[in-house]
Amino acid sequence: MLETRRNGRMLAPWTYTSEELCELEMVYIFRHQWILAGHISELTQTGDYLTFNLAKERAVLVRDESGEIHAFHNVCRHRGSRVAPDRQGNCGHVLRCPFHGWTYQLNGTLKSVPRPQGFPDLIKDHNALVPIDLEIWNGFIFICFEGAQGRSVANQFGVISGKITPYQLEEMVPWGAEYDEVVDYNWKFFHDVDNEGYHVPVAHPALHELYGRDYCDSYLGNIPMTTGVVDDYPASSWSVARYKSLLPRQAHLPEENQRLWLYFGLFPNTVIYFYPEKAGFYMSLPQGAATTRVISREYRLPGENRELAAVRYLSGRIDQMTGREDHDLVRRLQEAAHTSVFPMNNLSDLEDGVLQFHQQLKALIPVMSLDASPAPGTLADVNTTLLNSST
Ligand code: FES
Ligand SMILES: [Fe+2]
Repeated sequence: MLETRRNGRMLAPWTYTSEELCELEMVYIFRHQWILAGHISELTQTGDYLTFNLAKERAVLVRDESGEIHAFHNVCRHRGSRVAPDRQGNCGHVLRCPFHGWTYQLNGTLKSVPRPQGFPDLIKDHNALVPIDLEIWNGFIFICFEGAQGRSVANQFGVISGKITPYQLEEMVPWGAEYDEVVDYNWKFFHDVDNEGYHVPVAHPALHELYGRDYCDSYLGNIPMTTGVVDDYPASSWSVARYKSLLPRQAHLPEENQRLWLYFGLFPNTVIYFYPEKAGFYMSLPQGAATTRVISREYRLPGENRELAAVRYLSGRIDQMTGREDHDLVRRLQEAAHTSVFPMNNLSDLEDGVLQFHQQLKALIPVMSLDASPAPGTLADVNTTLLNSST
C-alpha cells in the first residue's frame, strides 16, 4: 500500500491557485462531506446558538427547549437575511430575523410574521427554516450542507472512538477564546504541511524537544493519527522544560495517555487533538483559492486546578510557536506554486500523509489528477467527464 502510494504523484501546483477548482471543491467536498461545526458545550442553554459559514453557505446551530440541537440554513425564508446575526449568542425562545421581524421557533418552524395581512397566501408550514443534516459524535457537532444521504459521522470516524473515549470529550467545557484568522494561502497547503512529521525536527525545534524522540505518524483505518510522548530529557525552550516538569498525572487517563499528545486528521479539513490537559480542533475554511480562514477551539474538563491551568498555558505557548512556524512554511509553499519548477514527486516515507490526502481529493474531484489545468471555463465539464468515465 505504502509503496503504491509513494509512486503516486502529489497535486499539481495549479490546484492551489485555481479559483475554478475552488468552486468545485465547495461543491464536491465542503457541501458534500461532514464538517465539524462546534461542540455541545457551546450550546448548553435554550436559545444558545452558534453560526458557521462555509462554501458560501450559512448555518446556525441552536438548542431548543427540549435540549435538542438543530442545524438550519441561517437564511430567513422571507428575503434571505441572517436570522442569527453573530458568531455565537443566545436568542431566547425564538430566532427573530433582524430585517422585517419574521420569527421562528427554535425547532425552525415559522411562528409569526409582522403584518400577516400582507401575505394572504403565506403557508407557515411551508416556510420553516431549511434544516441541515446534523450528527453529534463524542460531543462534536458535525453538519452536512448537501445532505448526508445515509453516510454517518460515527461510521466515518468510528475507528478512532476507542482512542478518544478516555478523554471524556462529551463532558468538556470551552476553554480560552476562539482562534480565528484569515491567511493568504490555499487550504490544501495548510494540510500538506500538517500532514507529515518529516519537518518537525527542523522546523519545530521546541516541539521536537517536547516529544520528537517518540513521534509517530500512522493510521487507524484510513484516519491519520499522530502521537508524540512527552519525554523527560532537558529542553532549551523555557515552555517545553516547564511543561515537562509540571505535567501532572490525571486519574481519568490510562497510563499510556499520561504524557501523550494525540492528533487525528478528519478529512477533509479538520484536526482534532488531545493532550493530557485539554482537547481541541483546528480547521481550514477556504474563502478562495489563496484565502483561507483558520479557526481553532479548545476544551477542558470541568474542575480547575492551578497545575492544569499552568500546563495549559505552557502547551498553549508551544502551540503558538508551532503555529507561527507552520504559517511561514505554508506561505512558502503558496509562493512555490506560482513558480515554474514546483516539485511533485520527492516525498519520503514519512510524508505519506500528504499523498493520502491528495488521493482522497482526487477520488472526489478527478480533474485534480491532471498535471495541467484544463482551459479556463472548462474545468467543471472536464471533471464531469472524468467522473462519468470512472463509473
Ligand atoms: S428577510 Fe427576514 S424578515 Fe425579511
Ligand atoms: Fe508543522
